[in-house]
Amino acid sequence: EAWWPEDDDKDRPLPSSVKVRVPAKINLHLGVGPLRRDGYHELHTVYHAISLYDEVTARRGDTLTLTMEGVGAGSLALDDSNLIIKAARALAESAKVPAHARLHLRKSIPLAGGLAGGSADAAATLIACDALWGTGYSREDLARIAATLGSDVPFLIHGGTALGTGRGEAVSPVLARAYTWHWVVAIADGGLSTPEVYRELDRLRLGADAPSAAGSPDALFTALRQRDPAVLAPTLGNDLQPAALSLRPALAETLDAGTKAGALAALVSGSGPTCVFLARDPGHAAEVAAAVEAAQVCRTVQVAHGPVVGARVI
Ligand code: C5P
Repeated sequence: EAWWPEDDDKDRPLPSSVKVRVPAKINLHLGVGPLRRDGYHELHTVYHAISLYDEVTARRGDTLTLTMEGVGAGSLALDDSNLIIKAARALAESAKVPAHARLHLRKSIPLAGGLAGGSADAAATLIACDALWGTGYSREDLARIAATLGSDVPFLIHGGTALGTGRGEAVSPVLARAYTWHWVVAIADGGLSTPEVYRELDRLRLGADAPSAAGSPDALFTALRQRDPAVLAPTLGNDLQPAALSLRPALAETLDAGTKAGALAALVSGSGPTCVFLARDPGHAAEVAAAVEAAQVCRTVQVAHGPVVGARVI
């Protein structure tokens, strides 16, 4: 069953260059269940794609190469350990074509920020190489390959607002009438390691003062349909937040700065350290952003809106 419309691009000549834009994600709800035997946690999460983007360009080449510019240039490894290279190889292997492309990443989404930047780049690579090589895969086919690359990668193929289950890789869209939510994104200095944040949550849960769980996302789904930021605000929740705060206590000041600035809600994005604040409208978002910026509690502040579409050829 196709939930998303398919691109009708089967009969076009192969392009010599494909540019794909891919958004960052936040989690409106991140409910973390028990640790599974495969080392992943069972999740109930609501992903939401926001207007902060990376770009991957794929050009014809005789080998597989990767270059980059922007945020993280010089610190991000561009070898076989990069998820972009892994994505290109996984698609080539599946489609039985040579993994030949010159890939270039223009990065704005911070590294290890809890915004799924690396997963976004992998999703963009699958879309770009699919078009470059004319593999003709459907978005569902690509999402299946995406799931082998990382838990968040299938969502970034689709975008929008979607429920993620399993380890996060099983996504289905949240159907709601079109409405745009406005966010302020506070980007920290330095990143947090996702596995470490999950391990810290496991450690906290062993202790007596185990943080309470975000529970079911039902209240959030109801609020999303009401299209009122004040109603949405109290339904946002992230089970990883206590773990991120435990590893990075200074994040409490960032969250506090957003609340003091008048944000309707303040929460850690995914495994952090990025914090996101819900605003009423674009004007309010600009106001909150200016106040958070002035509080000097993070590296940079950006405004963003969501939901936006996933990885798309531009
Ligand atoms: O799937 P991905 O490679 O992005 O996950 C990175 C790490 O985050 C995993 O190795 C695991 O430690 C942790 N994780 C988890 N449970 C999930 C997703 C991720 O424990 N559902």
